[in-house]
Amino acid sequence: MVLTLEGVSKSFGKDNTYVEALKPTDFHLERGEMVAIIGPSGSGKSTFLTIAGLLQQPSSGQIMINQTNTTSFNEKKRAQTRLKEIGFILQASNLVPFLKVKDQLKLLDKVNSNHLSKEELASKINTLGLEKVMNQYPSELSGGQRQRVAILKAIYTNPAMILADEPTASLDSEKAFAVIELIRDEVKSMEKAAIIVTHDTRLTQYFDKVYEMKDGYLNRIN
Ligand SMILES: Nc1ncnc2c1ncn2[C@@H]1O[C@H](COP(=O)(O)OP(=O)(O)OP(=O)(O)O)[C@@H](O)[C@H]1O
Ligand SMILES: [Mg+2]
Repeated sequence: MVLTLEGVSKSFGKDNTYVEALKPTDFHLERGEMVAIIGPSGSGKSTFLTIAGLLQQPSSGQIMINQTNTTSFNEKKRAQTRLKEIGFILQASNLVPFLKVKDQLKLLDKVNSNHLSKEELASKINTLGLEKVMNQYPSELSGGQRQRVAILKAIYTNPAMILADEPTASLDSEKAFAVIELIRDEVKSMEKAAIIVTHDTRLTQYFDKVYEMKDGYLNRIN
């Protein structure tokens, strides 16, 4: 099992601002599995994804990553686990504004030596159609290009698990399919796993399981 959640919940605020964004949730993700989470805005999808990826702490429950219980991890250990095991593609772009695209990858070399080879990288750059932007800064990219650079960064370090929040939101059909096929290929050929939040009905055939988030409740629907 790559990821296990047991009784994980998240609440924000108190008294009249109190909201339980994620109700107590059990969830399992296996190697080779590609799952989708759909659901309305504000239903708790990003909350679920960022908690599963150790970016924020749950209010209750336990999270196991590669069979290791992370509950007692301090922030340093959580950060190490994120760098080593998880590739994030988040709604807020995780690009460093003052670095060219190619230097964003170099930065990752410094913190994680388990990255793609030159040949593998060239092939992913080609699949994502990013050849021409490697020497540009994030501010010089279109929304869709930025999104694809974020995807390149997420897979570059060979993570066990890919967590993606609307990775195809600003892409045309052709590029959306290319991106999702690339993630699926990583998952299937490299025995990884992915959770993808999406509203994109063009993509349903690519997923092994589909969950729906509604008012903080996560239910499998397909
Ligand atoms: N840091 C926070 N502080 C207070 N409330 C929060 C916080 N983060 C999320 N929430 C609330 O939790 C609920 C779920 O938010 P979340 O971002 O998980 O929704 P979402 O399903 O990802 O929505 P969208 O599709 O619009 O991205 C919302 O009511 C939101 O206002
Ligand atoms: Mg969200």
